Amino acid sequence: MARRNDSFVCQNCGAHYGRWQGRCDACGEWNTIAEEGAERPIAPGRAPRKGRRFALEPLSGETQDAPRLASGIAEFDRVTGGGFVRGSVLLLGGDPGIGKSTLLIQVAATLARAKERAAYISGEEAVAQVRLRAERLGLAGAPVELAAETSVEDIIATLSEGATPRLVIIDSIQTMWTDMVDSAPGTVTQVRGAAQTLIRFAKRSGAAVILVGHVTKDGQIAGPRVVEHMVDAVLSFEGEGSNQFRILRAVKNRFGPTDEIGVFEMTGSGLREVANPSELFLSERDLGSPGTAVFAGIEGSRPLLVEMQALVAPTSLGTPRRAVVGWDQSRLSMVLAVLEAHCGVRLSGHDVYLNVAGGLRIQEPAADLAAAAALVSSLANAPLAADAVFFGEVSLSGAVRPVAQTAARLKEAQKLGFARAIMPEASRAEGEGTLTLETVGSLSTLVADIAARGKRPARPERRAANE
Ligand code: TYD
Ligand code: MG
Repeated sequence: MARRNDSFVCQNCGAHYGRWQGRCDACGEWNTIAEEGAERPIAPGRAPRKGRRFALEPLSGETQDAPRLASGIAEFDRVTGGGFVRGSVLLLGGDPGIGKSTLLIQVAATLARAKERAAYISGEEAVAQVRLRAERLGLAGAPVELAAETSVEDIIATLSEGATPRLVIIDSIQTMWTDMVDSAPGTVTQVRGAAQTLIRFAKRSGAAVILVGHVTKDGQIAGPRVVEHMVDAVLSFEGEGSNQFRILRAVKNRFGPTDEIGVFEMTGSGLREVANPSELFLSERDLGSPGTAVFAGIEGSRPLLVEMQALVAPTSLGTPRRAVVGWDQSRLSMVLAVLEAHCGVRLSGHDVYLNVAGGLRIQEPAADLAAAAALVSSLANAPLAADAVFFGEVSLSGAVRPVAQTAARLKEAQKLGFARAIMPEASRAEGEGTLTLETVGSLSTLVADIAARGKRPARPERRAANE
């Protein structure tokens, strides 16, 4: 067998090349190809291994329900789907400094205090640094087993002694290396090799393993992108740097739903769980100013109210700006196109900015109506009613389409003191008996309503939502 001589590996996607080149053909990234030690080839002339027979099983049969170990941090357990599954491996990704190490030391300490064995292995910080953080968080008394190590084989040998830990935290996978491959730590080959070895350890020992992974500037978990396929769950920890709110989101989960989020607040003494995120996202509302609309959304199984803020201003540029934070750029383009084509709203001479307050990232199309309302309100300089929530999907024809879970959205709005809901006509039946429902069949109706408000003499609407 010919020796594989493709030791140049793209550090972004893992593609192999025989020689160096500036751009990876597979993923299109520049300057990501580096030379790595070749993965060991099979010795020439060696007979192929004779296959071992294994039993094939029917789909039905006696299986124990995967036992879960709750971490004791409710927002974390919500995202994992009820706690750690024995022998499962979880990858936690996030920007540097977002709070991954803080979150995990809190998880480890909570478990350790509940008399479960939890180990925290840091490849980035010295033991003293981790201790200092634990002291700041008031967790120094928790019996977490701590080490600063980077050799996967040594870590596994140490942890295999005595009782198996219930939870092993590896911070981070990019700093780990295994003897199995020759490449330098941090390269794709090493990261993959180290992850494979740790996954095998998890399956064999029944310990739950959490791997921390750093994220590149375009949001991919660097290197460990190849690891994403190998692990049971991928969580991402997000937040705007300037904002204290942090969102934990399941990107992939073999043992639970992927649309749940957990909300935390970064405080001087670590991450605090936020049990009622709507209150928090609406806490700094600017009542009575044009360009803001409250969206009644759903994240996973939980209703969530957030404020959408828009600014539409005359442009001085040839091509007006369209900027969006916290929502989908193409979704904004679509709403703008529908406003132009079906509602007579001229936006080609205006810059458009759209922001979701609190650093939340919304993925639901149900936010279309709230976004459109905020945009038109800003353009017409007409504040929207402070006691109203908006939700509904806008179709390309300008119709307002129904969305799922109307009752849950309305209940949350009612709980927080809202009196009115602007929502799709077709969802009216589901929402009877809660708020005052103002249903709209098409976006043009809503635009006409808001424009009419703008023409009325200014009457500041200062009724606070939760007064
Ligand atoms: P860290 O957990 O080290 O981030 P990561 O592991 O994702 O790189 O968090 C670092 C940031 O969190 C740092 O900028 C300071 C902030 N922080 C607090 O605000 N309060 C705290 O109690 C702690 C421990 C950190
Ligand atoms: Mg860290």
